[in-house]
Amino acid sequence: MATLVESPGDASRGPRGPHWGPPRTVKRTDSEHEISRAAELLRRGECVAFPTETVYGLGAVATDAKAAARIFSIKGRPRFDPLIVHLASAGDLSTAASAVSERARLLAAALWPGPLTMVLPKRDAIPDIVTAGLPTVALRVPDHAVARALIEATGSPLAAPSANPFGYISPTTAQHVRDQLGEKVAMVVDGGPCRVGIESTIVDLSGERPALLRPGQITRETVEEILGEPLRLGAAGDKPTAPGQLPRHYAPSTRLVLIESVDAVAVGERGRAALLSALPVADRDGFAITRVLSESGDLEEAAAGLFAALRELDRADVSRIYAISIAEDGIGAAIMDRLRRAAAR
Ligand code: TXA
Ligand code: MG
Repeated sequence: MATLVESPGDASRGPRGPHWGPPRTVKRTDSEHEISRAAELLRRGECVAFPTETVYGLGAVATDAKAAARIFSIKGRPRFDPLIVHLASAGDLSTAASAVSERARLLAAALWPGPLTMVLPKRDAIPDIVTAGLPTVALRVPDHAVARALIEATGSPLAAPSANPFGYISPTTAQHVRDQLGEKVAMVVDGGPCRVGIESTIVDLSGERPALLRPGQITRETVEEILGEPLRLGAAGDKPTAPGQLPRHYAPSTRLVLIESVDAVAVGERGRAALLSALPVADRDGFAITRVLSESGDLEEAAAGLFAALRELDRADVSRIYAISIAEDGIGAAIMDRLRRAAAR
């Protein structure tokens, strides 16, 4: 087996890393022994949290309905909310999808392994609980060596939502998972901080026209270019099949308010408030705590640090978190999607 720990997946290092990443003392799962132990637990029907390039997932064998049911109870997740099934490689697509369209082949060839999820007609092997009764299944091949090694060692695709209690901020480090799900999971496989930091882009290819269900690091523009056709926007009118599509999600406990500019916050109020900005801000005086996700204006870096910053600001003793809106092009659309849902009440 190849090296199990990818250093590019380590967001706490290098120029793009968030500045408030976890301490480097966190023990990483870098041995085949630990992967085998996790795979053994999964085969026995347990739930194991594991790293991907986007966020940590709470995994169970995708063909095991009882194990999948356990995911819902650990997360407190409503049963109408279907799970993403993770494959070791694009070659395994037809083990879970009953039909693989030309569009799916194009996207898989261009973007997998990577943070793209495709919704396709499902095979009977995938139980209804995984897809919440839908005739379709969401599939992706994660761009993380530990994740793929784990799927391979288990010998089965893994159903895995983000490893957070339902509705709360997604985990981007193993410590985030331990803090929130702790004893509820059989094991947390530590692969270091997630490189992408926000959940995968979801494209629905099961209908007549492809639709974007959730924006992510892989932008709408990129997918449209590969397909050579525009994406419909999922949501309005459609059944809200993605929790990302529920109005309130990714939410901190402290109230988060979206603002167009810092001028919206009176100077007298700043001492009790936190400021969150994806991009550099000139006027940041007086806030109790300020987090700028990318001082160089790099939106990939901003996305990678978003959830860790939200957690940190949520723990700070402030009455409000003010988040500055950004333009919704490219990855800006994915960041604004998460902020808007975090702000929803
Ligand atoms: O990056 C990610 O996608 C992470 C990592 C762990 O892979 N997973 C993740 O899972 O974000 P989760 O459960 O938090 O979000 C899964 C999304 C949900 O919004 C769900 O509704 C949607 O995928 N989904 C799953 N199956 C679907 C289907 N058949 N049709 C439409 N949407 C589906
Ligand atoms: Mg989630």
